[in-house]
Amino acid sequence: MLSSNIGLDHIAVYVPNQYLSSVDLAHARQIDPNKFTIGIGIKEISVPSPAEDVVVMAANAGYQVLQEAGVLPSEIGLLIVGTESAVDGAKPVAIQVHELLGIQSACRVYDTIHACIGATYGVLSALDWLAADSSRSYALVIASDIARYGKASPGEPTQGAGAVALLISRHPRLMTLQEISNYSKNVYDFWKPKEEIYPMVNGVYSAQCYLEAVTQCFTGLIINQKSTFLYHTPYPKLVQQAHTQVLEVVDSTIDKKPHYDKYVSCSSLYPSRVGNIYTGSLWLSLVSFLENIYASESNSLIELQEGCYLFSYGSGCSSVLMRGEFSANCREMVQKMKLSLRLEQRVQISVEEYEMLMYSPDDVKKNYLNTGYFKFEGIHNKERKYSVCKETVFFEVENG
Ligand code: CAA
Repeated sequence: MLSSNIGLDHIAVYVPNQYLSSVDLAHARQIDPNKFTIGIGIKEISVPSPAEDVVVMAANAGYQVLQEAGVLPSEIGLLIVGTESAVDGAKPVAIQVHELLGIQSACRVYDTIHACIGATYGVLSALDWLAADSSRSYALVIASDIARYGKASPGEPTQGAGAVALLISRHPRLMTLQEISNYSKNVYDFWKPKEEIYPMVNGVYSAQCYLEAVTQCFTGLIINQKSTFLYHTPYPKLVQQAHTQVLEVVDSTIDKKPHYDKYVSCSSLYPSRVGNIYTGSLWLSLVSFLENIYASESNSLIELQEGCYLFSYGSGCSSVLMRGEFSANCREMVQKMKLSLRLEQRVQISVEEYEMLMYSPDDVKKNYLNTGYFKFEGIHNKERKYSVCKETVFFEVENG
């Protein structure tokens, strides 16, 4: 394996302003709430307003990462958006984001699509792009998705929405990243025919495919047991199951439950409060780990210098295992992260409001206009129009 210092300089997350309690959803669907909160492991679901589409969410996350990192749009030479909920069949989300963020025109701009792994492949492309030419400084990769499933379907409690912006640089202040192994195989576990609004899901089979991929990626590796393990998290219960299998493969003598509690569990805290955000899911678990590592006594025992493993999975399927080494002063960048605050500021909505937002958004469009730094103005002549908000106050939910 080639050694490299290229990696993640900073990371920022945008989640919609509204969330639904999965206990409320369970009651509405006449299901035991423990099935959602324990059996699946999701407590809250992020619900996008009609104005929070993948472009707006991506631009908000991108703006935040540049602001916090102190990097100018003119320093970005590569912009990639990973998404599986693009708003157009040909025009990339990335070119809309490129304009909204005011990134220079001398920039390579495109989307990457492979279910939930699209953004991770964007990150790997960015590492290669920087490695290829030492005059290149920064690449920006943004994962942005809305995970929608049918009303009352098994996937409904795993829905979510959000965007994660990853600033990649050759002198990363957060962590270096390197690819270790891959596993890919043509399967129909989760897919979305063009004519369908919602994905087709072979739920149990999709979990089996994920578990096979993660097991294969770790097979034959000699691992550092004191590292943190980060996984693509469609729902936290699957991560518990994945980690059990991984430990069985790499060293079956490790006591699995304590190892999970110490080296994995805090990375699921935010996914359990946001739901599945597809391409951003692995990276949300990284933010969850970093923001919470100093928060509890047991977490503070983790040694950051032991690094981490990052497993990304895209249905269909393709997967990659990466190794991350945290920078000596990464805490400086972690202290700039604000997702815990954002999660606290969100507004809880009822099941009725959630159903209107997800299943008949046109009825409530007028109440959801201001969406952070950027605004979706609507569709005119089949062109999607966006603008930069003068005020940067997050909007409030109005009833009715
Ligand atoms: N109290 C506590 N736990 C309960 C319970 C209760 N009252 N009732 C059920 N449970 C448990 C079950 O025992 C089960 O746990 P185990 O997995 O340990 O057996 C868990 O809750 C889920 O129960 P079911 O298997 O009965 O759930 P389900 O049939 O309703 O569907 C699902 C679960 C398949 C994950 C479904 O939510 C789904 O289809 N989700 C979308 C697909 C998905 O996320 N796949 C993940 C892999 S693919 C991928 O990673 C890509 C991606 O992002 C989409």
